[in-house]
Amino acid sequence: MTVQLRPATPADVPHLERWDREPHVIAATSDDPNADVAFEDAEWLEEISNDDPASAYFIAELDGRPFGAMQIIDPALERTHYWGKDCPPNLRAMDIWIGEKDCLNKGLGTQMMKMAINQAFADTNVEAIIIDPLTSNTDAHRFYRRLGFRPLERRLFEDDDCLVHRLDRADWRFGEADA
Ligand SMILES: CC(C)(COP(=O)(O)OP(=O)(O)OC[C@H]1O[C@@H](n2cnc3c(N)ncnc32)[C@H](O)[C@@H]1OP(=O)(O)O)[C@@H](O)C(=O)NCCC(=O)NCCS
Repeated sequence: MTVQLRPATPADVPHLERWDREPHVIAATSDDPNADVAFEDAEWLEEISNDDPASAYFIAELDGRPFGAMQIIDPALERTHYWGKDCPPNLRAMDIWIGEKDCLNKGLGTQMMKMAINQAFADTNVEAIIIDPLTSNTDAHRFYRRLGFRPLERRLFEDDDCLVHRLDRADWRFGEADA
């Protein structure tokens, strides 16, 4: 099963909007039991078309079928300063979600992360990758730890209680040859 990770386009908006309504995606983005949409502030066409050079969206496909998405940013430069104005340079921050439920637990998320991490570390300035799963999303913690991420700190992003994880370049075990 070969996964392709390609830049998102406006044609992907219907997939992203549909995935926002999937309970497993909602549960990964909010602890509110009444939440009925993930990424509630996201206007996907605007997000994808944004001209911020420090933020990019990617769509994962299997045999031409889109099944998931990633956002990869430079958290020090990204325009909304989601990670704070004092975020250090030379990092990448990633977000990943598989929208198609039948694509979960098949190793596809691992393939997506390996590709994205290898691409990030191909820039020799990048020292580490950070991610912010909800503290409640223990399945995702296990997934990230298997890739070499270490839990760093519990942090509130607005109302979201997150457990920030970090993967330092030295801890990256799956280099180009194994990916
Ligand atoms: C987190 C997420 C991206 C992981 O992707 P995934 O493709 O399901 O993950 P993988 O299949 O690579 O690994 C997950 C599990 O499948 C198992 N697995 C890995 N390869 C497998 C394969 N080929 N066949 C069957 N199972 C496999 C892993 O052992 C792992 O098991 P675990 O439950 O003990 O952790 C996905 O679950 C997701 O999108 N969740 C909703 C959004 C989310 O939580 N995002 C992260 C928060 S920021």
